[in-house]
Amino acid sequence: MKFLIFNLLLIFSAYIDCGNAVVGTTAAAAAPAPITEKTPPPPSNLTTIMAQKGCKTFANLVSSIPEVLSTFQSDVGGGLTVFCVKDGAMKSFMPKYKNLTASGKTSLLLYHGIPVYNSLYMLKISNGVFNTLATDGTTSNYNFTVQDAGHDVTLKTGLGTATIVSTLFDKTPLAIFAVNNVLQPKELFKLVEAPTPAPAPAPKSKPEQLSAPSSSEAPDADSADQETADDNAGGSRVMVPTIVVGILLFMVGL
Ligand SMILES: *[C@@H]1O[C@H](CO)[C@@H](O)[C@H](O)[C@H]1NC(C)=O
Ligand SMILES: *[C@@H]1O[C@H](CO)[C@@H](O)[C@H](O)[C@H]1NC(C)=O
Ligand SMILES: *[C@@H]1O[C@H](CO)[C@@H](O)[C@H](O)[C@H]1NC(C)=O
Repeated sequence: MKFLIFNLLLIFSAYIDCGNAVVGTTAAAAAPAPITEKTPPPPSNLTTIMAQKGCKTFANLVSSIPEVLSTFQSDVGGGLTVFCVKDGAMKSFMPKYKNLTASGKTSLLLYHGIPVYNSLYMLKISNGVFNTLATDGTTSNYNFTVQDAGHDVTLKTGLGTATIVSTLFDKTPLAIFAVNNVLQPKELFKLVEAPTPAPAPAPKSKPEQLSAPSSSEAPDADSADQETADDNAGGSRVMVPTIVVGILLFMVGL
C-alpha cells in the first residue's frame, strides 16, 4: 500500500514538474518574443555601415539617442552626408562628450550630418560654409567650413579641423565619410565655458583679463589662442549685463 501511494506521488509530482516545465518553456518563449520585437530600433543600415567600417563608437552614440537616429534615418530620403568619427578619435573625446548635457549630446551628433547629398568631389569643389542637421534655420548656427586642402578635404568648425580620411558609402542620396577628429561646434563648447566667467562680477577689469578665468578651463586653451576675436565677442557679451546694472543703479540714484 505504501509502495502504491509512493508511486502515485512520484507520478503525480512528475506530472506537476512536466506541467511546470511546459508552462515554464511557453512562458519563457512567450515573454522574450514581444520584447525582442520591440526593443531593438528599426535596423539601420546607416549605423551598421558606420560600425562595420571603423566608426563603431560614433554609431553606438547615434543609436543611443532615438531623436538623433530618427533624424539621420529620415533625412536619407532627401539627401544626407554623414561625417562619422573614427573610433580612436571618438574614444578619446568621450570624457568631454559625457560632460555635455542631453541636448548638447544631441546637437553634437547632429552636427556631424548635413542635410544634402555630397560626393567627395562635390565637397572638394564647394569650399564653403555648410549648415548641419543641428543648425537652427533662423540663425544658421552650427555650421562648419569645408575646404579643399590639396589631397584632402578638411572641415573647420572654428575650434579645430577634421580631415576626411575615407569614404564609407557613396550612393545618391547618401554619402558617409570617416573623419579623423570630432567636429566641435563653437556654440556648444563656448556655452560650456561661458557660465564660469560670466557670473564672476569683474566688469571693471580689462577685457583681456576676462580671458584669464576661461584659461583655467584647460582643455581648449590651445584653440582659445586662435579664437581671440571670439573671446573678445564673448567679452562684449559679458559687458551687456554691466550696462544694465549701470542703468539700474543710475535709476535708483534718481
Ligand atoms: C538596408 O540594406 C538592405 C540590403 O543592402 C536593403 O535591401 C534595404 O533596402 C536597406 N534599407 C534601407 C532602409 O536603406
Ligand atoms: C567635465 O566636467 C567636470 C566638472 O565640471 C570637470 O572637472 C572636468 O574637467 C570636465 N572634463 C572634461 C574632459 O571636460
Ligand atoms: C555660421 O554660424 C555662425 C554662428 O556660429 C553665424 O554667425 C554665421 O552667420 C553662420 N554662417 C553662415 C554662412 O550661415
